[in-house]
Amino acid sequence: MTPLLLACPGNEALGESLRRALDADPVAFAMRRFPDGETYLRIDSDVRDRSVAVLCSLHDPDARLSSLVFASDAVRELGARQVGLVAPYLAYMRQDRRFLPGEAVTSTSFARLLSAQFDWLVTVDPHLHRRRSLGEIYTIPAEIVHAAPLLAGWIRDHVAAPLVVGPDSESEQWVRAVADAVPCPYVVLEKTRRGDRDVAVSASPKSRLAADRTPVLVDDIISSARTMIETAGLWREAGAAAPVCIGVHGVFAPGAYEALSAAGAGKIVTTNSIAHASNDIDLAAVLLEPIERACRNVSSRNSAAGSNRGK
Ligand code: R5P
Repeated sequence: MTPLLLACPGNEALGESLRRALDADPVAFAMRRFPDGETYLRIDSDVRDRSVAVLCSLHDPDARLSSLVFASDAVRELGARQVGLVAPYLAYMRQDRRFLPGEAVTSTSFARLLSAQFDWLVTVDPHLHRRRSLGEIYTIPAEIVHAAPLLAGWIRDHVAAPLVVGPDSESEQWVRAVADAVPCPYVVLEKTRRGDRDVAVSASPKSRLAADRTPVLVDDIISSARTMIETAGLWREAGAAAPVCIGVHGVFAPGAYEALSAAGAGKIVTTNSIAHASNDIDLAAVLLEPIERACRNVSSRNSAAGSNRGK
């Protein structure tokens, strides 16, 4: 059965596009803040015996977590058969180990919280670096959707002779996939991060600063934008065309988008995983099947568990 879709505040644009793709009914709700900062939530749709997909991108996660917990608890208490989470941007993936003694490994704690709350998770290109799969920290079925085919389609439609550029070795996984799908050449540079907003990017000896192609910088996240700014600077210094900057997730810390524009980016493009003026790539088409599959799998698992219980 088609799930109901509950799009949390801030996720309306992708929510509408996804709702149409899934042919799903929305979950109507009222959510507001009390004067003391606490959340009021009322579910206005009948969710009994339905699968509910909660759509909530998790940038600024601490501010979103409590309403997410209230929403999933409420629909479950009102009779939903299963509650899944569609988090196009999955937060807390970067602190994946204790770099300094005493540090909290927040990716593990966050995964534990979400696993306790939802039956399944679908997300887009999470920042898997030292971990190979979400199954290492999530105990619920968690499917990863890749935006590379959509990024490649956008590049094909908008850039005549692209050269895809990855700022660091971590980016090679999606940069290669994007370039192969365009198809076009790619280079991967070297990055050193010295602090939250202090990044140095250099061309590796193997990279070719091809002047006859338009550089298309591709990264999973644009946050402070320092990575993109430093990479763009390298290409501008080499006399290349103004680089197109594509981020899967435009997190954009305050002032970051403006700083990247001022640094000479030709065009800044992101997917609609996080609502932003730069959104030009709609994720609905790639999210559709994984959501339907997750609902089906959990339903069959629950039915199997139900029928075994009577034996
Ligand atoms: C880091 O490893 C990621 O792949 C991105 O390169 C990084 O998150 C970008 O962050 P910022 O925009 O703050 O440089």
